[in-house]
Amino acid sequence: MGVIGKDLEKAIEALTTSELVGIPTETVYGLAANAMNPNAVTRIFTAKDRPTFHPLIVHIHSLAQAQNWVEAIPPKILKLTDTLWPGPLTILLKRKAGGIPDIVTGGSPWVGLRVPQHPVTLELLNRLPFPLAAPSANRFGYVSPTTPQHVADQLEEEVAYILDGGPSLIGVESTIVQVDEEDTCRVLRPGGVSIELIQTLVGPVSLAKPDTSIRTSGTLKSHYATQTPVVIGNIAELLGENESKKVGILSFQEFYPRIPSEYQRVLSPQGSLAEAAQNLFAAMRELDELDQELILTEKFPELGLGRAINDRLQRAAAR
Ligand code: TXA
Ligand code: MG
Repeated sequence: MGVIGKDLEKAIEALTTSELVGIPTETVYGLAANAMNPNAVTRIFTAKDRPTFHPLIVHIHSLAQAQNWVEAIPPKILKLTDTLWPGPLTILLKRKAGGIPDIVTGGSPWVGLRVPQHPVTLELLNRLPFPLAAPSANRFGYVSPTTPQHVADQLEEEVAYILDGGPSLIGVESTIVQVDEEDTCRVLRPGGVSIELIQTLVGPVSLAKPDTSIRTSGTLKSHYATQTPVVIGNIAELLGENESKKVGILSFQEFYPRIPSEYQRVLSPQGSLAEAAQNLFAAMRELDELDQELILTEKFPELGLGRAINDRLQRAAAR
């Protein structure tokens, strides 16, 4: 597997010559390209089969790096980035003309920015003279990758290199926030930073849908989807209703003795939502590979990282 490795120089060289590199982050692995080079960014959309009007997050090493490309930063955003960057938080800011290319934002006046909390990728960003546009490194619509092997499984042919930074520690994508003209902080996608934590920093937030002119692919009804249909409910009841079917189980804490253990993934026997989030996408991929007829899962507690888990499962179940 020559494409996966820990050689930062290889990653730098590939990115500098407009190629794509899989990069580790604390949330999920990204498919990175030079954000300032439209040709390089175009390759991301081709590699993923992603429609070009779905904007990409720009990864930077510090807020200071972005200052030339964005308009004034609202105080509420500064409160968030002061505490939560580097970390699983993406902020949308009004961009200045002539900076971040249109292809990155799908023509939107807003640009999504994030400082990831992963030592390898932070070092990479510090050594590059340009920021990195990077969506999750999966084919459009499929489950996000949390290991270098997940990236290789889907995109080996498309990437020049995959930087190995170990498994992603958070396991779900960043929380996306925007402060609108009325100074309301909106959460566009629940993710690795809990809404509760954001509220302790900036007060009440709105979970309202974004401006409909903004396309947020992670908020499409069907996304993060396995090939195997996902059904959410009470697992014991779902097992009764689907006795004749070959099923896989994705549960929070409980093991179901009547189903062979190879068809079950218990995300956190101790009941930790953080641990469940960390294990979620790998478990979904593993169950999908077993080619069962259904994946049965349940609603997680709607708090902390449970919101992001429920969001991803609901989209995986929608078709
Ligand atoms: O944790 C993450 O955010 C990961 C890692 C790699 O950083 N990235 C990620 O990227 O999840 P992606 O492309 O799979 O999801 C990013 C979401 C998309 O739904 C995109 O539409 C939205 O962010 N987004 C990015 N820029 C935006 C913008 N300017 N306006 C509205 N939505 C934006
Ligand atoms: Mg994605």
